[in-house]
Amino acid sequence: MTTRPHILTIVGARPQFVKAAVVSKSMVDHDIRETMIHTGQHYDPSMSDVFFEELETPAPAHHLAIGSGRHGMQTGRMLERIEQIILDELPDRVLVYGDTNSTLAGALAASKLHVPIDHVEAGLRSFNRRMPEESNRVVTDHLSSMLFAPTTAAVANLAREGITGDQVVLSGDVMFDATIAASEIAARRSTIIDRLELTPGGYILATIHRAENTDDPARLESIFRSLAEVSESCPVVLPLHPRTGKALARAGLLDFATERLRIREPLGYLDMTRLESSARAIATDSGGVQKEAFFHQVPCVTIRTETEWVELVEMGWNTICDPRADEIARHIVEARAPEVIRSNPYGDGTASRTIARKIMGCVEGDL
Ligand code: UD1
Ligand code: UDP
Repeated sequence: MTTRPHILTIVGARPQFVKAAVVSKSMVDHDIRETMIHTGQHYDPSMSDVFFEELETPAPAHHLAIGSGRHGMQTGRMLERIEQIILDELPDRVLVYGDTNSTLAGALAASKLHVPIDHVEAGLRSFNRRMPEESNRVVTDHLSSMLFAPTTAAVANLAREGITGDQVVLSGDVMFDATIAASEIAARRSTIIDRLELTPGGYILATIHRAENTDDPARLESIFRSLAEVSESCPVVLPLHPRTGKALARAGLLDFATERLRIREPLGYLDMTRLESSARAIATDSGGVQKEAFFHQVPCVTIRTETEWVELVEMGWNTICDPRADEIARHIVEARAPEVIRSNPYGDGTASRTIARKIMGCVEGDL
């Protein structure tokens, strides 16, 4: 009798719920047994529960309820709890996603217990070590046994750091799989365009949450003044990340923002997908939203000094705009789709199947 492979998955933040939903379904199809840990890094219902409900992901077996805190404290608390669960569950492999503190804690815990690590979204680099995500990515990649890189640029980044060979798999991007799965359902079920009284193609969708933008009051003010300027010619809808809400309140800018922009609670994935697909343009500092803009063929302005998703800039779908620059509003208003449409660098929508198949092969190879 063969034993089913047992994978321990670690998630904790909003984008990980989206990525894990599609990979989990593929693991079921491959008869892989998955045990999921939710660290509780994100915990508001609109930042967590809604994704499990809408994407029909089974409730995690372990919910650690770690909550918010400074990096060391938050990561350390996760590490202690995840270590014990690995000792109890004895998984064949540990699966982590992206670059959050939950990713780092999962990778560290597994590595110390000599459990092989699979990293989805490996090889991304901003080359900006002041971003908390950059150290999480670098450490996780160097601890991982199997690295699922979404793009050829990610494969090249890993090669520059000496990570090559069969352990690196160009899988495509699981967020593309997720967008494909959600788009048709969102078009049928989401009523957000009517609820917000919007005209398709007649609004800008914006999201801002990166620490380097929210925690610097001058940058935060520059960004929100620019979005307010855009709203004079086109409505700007902005689902507000709790981090940004708190930062705006601290900076005395919350009233200014709510009076000028259509500020809303964080949205569920289906409403977000629907809003993205009909936006005239998207302005964001999110990693995931930059790519989703492209998946929906909507031009994007990234309000950061650099991006990990360099292909989007090369293809003309994305413009990088310094958060302190005067011309943010002009870039958003003038954002257009490129004249030459090139092929999709994020795969063919089967990344999650590739990942599940590879994981299955690794465990069988280990037996
Ligand atoms: C985290 C990730 C970031 C990712 C983002 C996705 C790290 C270091 N950062 O950033 O890479 O892009 O998630 O959204 O892991 N808060 C709430 N309710 C919640 C969650 C957070 O109020 O459910 C507030 C708290 O005040 C908290 C702050 O948001 O201190 C920041 O949350 P945290 O998870 O530390 O970082 P994010 O900015 O969400
Ligand atoms: N998202 C969402 N509702 C929102 C904002 C974002 O469903 O109000 C989704 C978005 O479509 C994408 C993911 O959350 O799938 C991106 O998460 P986020 O921007 O928080 O993190 P990042 O990708 O920057 O790490």
